[in-house]
Amino acid sequence: MSLTVALSKGKLLHGAAALFKRAGLPFPEDEGRKLVVETGALRFLFVKDMDVPTYVEYGVADCGIAGRDVILESGSDVYEPLDLGFGRCRLAVARPRGARADYRRAATVRVASKYPRVATSHFLEQGVSAEVVKLAGSVELAAVLGLADCIVDVVETGRTLEENGLEIVEDVAPSSARLVVNRASHHARREEMAGFVEALRRALPS
Ligand code: PRP
Repeated sequence: MSLTVALSKGKLLHGAAALFKRAGLPFPEDEGRKLVVETGALRFLFVKDMDVPTYVEYGVADCGIAGRDVILESGSDVYEPLDLGFGRCRLAVARPRGARADYRRAATVRVASKYPRVATSHFLEQGVSAEVVKLAGSVELAAVLGLADCIVDVVETGRTLEENGLEIVEDVAPSSARLVVNRASHHARREEMAGFVEALRRALPS
């Protein structure tokens, strides 16, 4: 049985395709809207980026490619053998540029985020009481329009913050694409998995 790899069609797809090509591994060409693609040696599942760790944790996929931001948010128990180097960005707290009041002195900070788990634990670690409002996207708007005092979001080029009048006030965590592996598959399919991980490792830029 071939190894099953969970991927998302989001920002990491291009980097994943390039990596698999360098590693001499098959990768699905444009398969339209198909969600499962068999290539012979590997079977690919296309899922939402936030769901990659879940498919891997539950063993529906043996492995997958997910950003560290997504892995942290999912809280999934997966093995993470390789930092794949692409998709570099950071999770950060941002708020309107030049905002005067120290938001951390407020009795409760209201934080908007697509990453409620990451945001909650960040403020908890800082000893700051936070009310986290979960949003599905365009989170910057929440800070611009006053739905929240600040946001916790992914920053890549910084352009979205810049163009919406926000600035970073704290870093939360750096992120990049990671290979995640199901813990049982890692043991039960040791040889196949080791060959696959090694092929990817050798294809990483030095
Ligand atoms: C992500 C993130 C920021 C933006 C950061 O959003 O949530 O909004 O990218 O990138 P930048 O620093 O290069 O501007 P995404 O494109 O995933 O869309 P979304 O807000 O609808 O989730």
